[in-house]
Amino acid sequence: MIKPKTYIYITFFLLATTSIIYSCRKPQTLDDSELDERMSGGDCTVFDESAGAFGNVIGGLTDEDQRVHDVGDGFFSKTFVPFSTNSPAVGLGPLFNQLSCARCHINEGRGTVPASGQPLQSMFFKLSVPGVDAYGAPLPVQGYGIQLQDKSIAGVNPEGTMQISYSYLSEKLADGTDIQLRQPIYQFDNLYTTMPANVLYSPRIARPNFGMGLIEAISEESILRNADPNDANGDGISGKVNYVYDYITRQGNCIGRIGWKAAVPNIKNQVAKALNEDIGITTSIFPVEYETTQQGGKIELPDSIVKALTFYMKTLAVPARRNVKDETVKLGQKLFKASGCVKCHVDKHETATDVSFKPLSGQIIRPYSDFLLHDMGPAIADGRPEFDASGYEWRTPPLWGIGLNQRVNGNTNLLHDGRARNYIEAIMWHGGEAQTAKDNFKKLTKTERDALVKFLESL
Ligand code: HEC
Ligand code: HEC
Repeated sequence: MIKPKTYIYITFFLLATTSIIYSCRKPQTLDDSELDERMSGGDCTVFDESAGAFGNVIGGLTDEDQRVHDVGDGFFSKTFVPFSTNSPAVGLGPLFNQLSCARCHINEGRGTVPASGQPLQSMFFKLSVPGVDAYGAPLPVQGYGIQLQDKSIAGVNPEGTMQISYSYLSEKLADGTDIQLRQPIYQFDNLYTTMPANVLYSPRIARPNFGMGLIEAISEESILRNADPNDANGDGISGKVNYVYDYITRQGNCIGRIGWKAAVPNIKNQVAKALNEDIGITTSIFPVEYETTQQGGKIELPDSIVKALTFYMKTLAVPARRNVKDETVKLGQKLFKASGCVKCHVDKHETATDVSFKPLSGQIIRPYSDFLLHDMGPAIADGRPEFDASGYEWRTPPLWGIGLNQRVNGNTNLLHDGRARNYIEAIMWHGGEAQTAKDNFKKLTKTERDALVKFLESL
């Protein structure tokens, strides 16, 4: 028998859940399967279609968790300043790409390519020379390190700048429609010292930050299940894990999940790297800034802040899908499968069971990625290997939230270098292992293409 007190609790629970669902979204009738389709991040999904859609906290946090999340949020937006007597502890630069995380990850979202002739704002260039270091990582460039820092504090020369211009080409779809594409042309400018002739460089726009905790929590089985490095099933798609180095545990052979080439195994490595390379802030993980001696070896940001920033990234919720009942969206989803997109943009994963942190544990999520490397052909190759990723390979990027880019970031730039201005251009740049999928797309009618695009907009 239910005791009166328990009864009150149950009633309260029901009222609370109903009001949460209703306060998030206008009531509508959805059956279970459709409800699931909306929950891209499982229980870590949030119903928000606003410009702030990528910056929401997941549910289920304790008060202490929430506090750490908020501390991380503060540092994510914090504009760092150079050393001075007023701010002796944490010094921006001397070389850097931006003053804060948030200036590249605008609204926790993606970066953009600057207009021709404008400086880089939310994009950078990774650098290396051929070969690998003791950890299997790319070799730094003498005098430049592994990233071009185009900004610096007063009295120090920036390393140089990058000029981006475009040449234009077009590709015809089966029904005769012309798709205009822009191919970037890069040129180093204002270099402070000689750049070796054999330098390799890789353009990268900033990627969105939500859902990182879930990506980190995906079980290894869920990733390895889709790997087919020697294409044993003969479908022309291999899918390879990038085995990378973890600079915190000091272990090699870790499954890379993060970044355009999956060169980073987990969020904390990414945060420490971003602080060091992008903003010029040292931590216990990366205590030295490349190519500078001015601030030699001093740890500027304590582990507690690195932890808070990491936790902030880990606890950002995934925006729910929209219009899942729409017939056109449903048709688009079918065509996405039938064209073979879903072979790499895998719709479902499971996160591992984690009793120490329940909110991310055992979730069914729909990131639309296999988190594996694929040879995408010469047209979008960067020619710069990173751990096991060749100069032709890229990680399949998750597509969740992609339909909100315009609203969150004010642009629809896609691909690692932002060259695609919309979904169709992005698809037209697919080659290599994705050639068949692209060819399938090219054969679709206008109505079918529009439906596939509507499906992508619903993610
Ligand atoms: C100068 C611009 C810039 C700044 C500043 C910057 N980032 Fe990034 N961020 C990027 C780029 C570019 C990538 C993609 C990197 C890659 O492909 O390896 C990225 C990737 C990430 C990712 C992984 C996203 C994914 O889907 O793989 C996380 C997490 C992240 N940054 C967090 C941070 C944090 C935290 C800070 C501040 C400490 C920060 N970033 C500062 C440009 C920036
Ligand atoms: C062989 C694997 C593979 C297949 C098949 C594939 N993709 Fe991709 N997709 C990728 C990779 C890898 C990238 C990233 C390439 C880059 O950034 O240069 C990508 C990027 C994208 C992007 C841009 C994402 C972003 O964050 O910028 C979209 C949109 C996209 N794919 C849609 C599709 C559609 C639609 C299809 C089917 C017609 C498809 N893809 C088929 C691997 C694949």
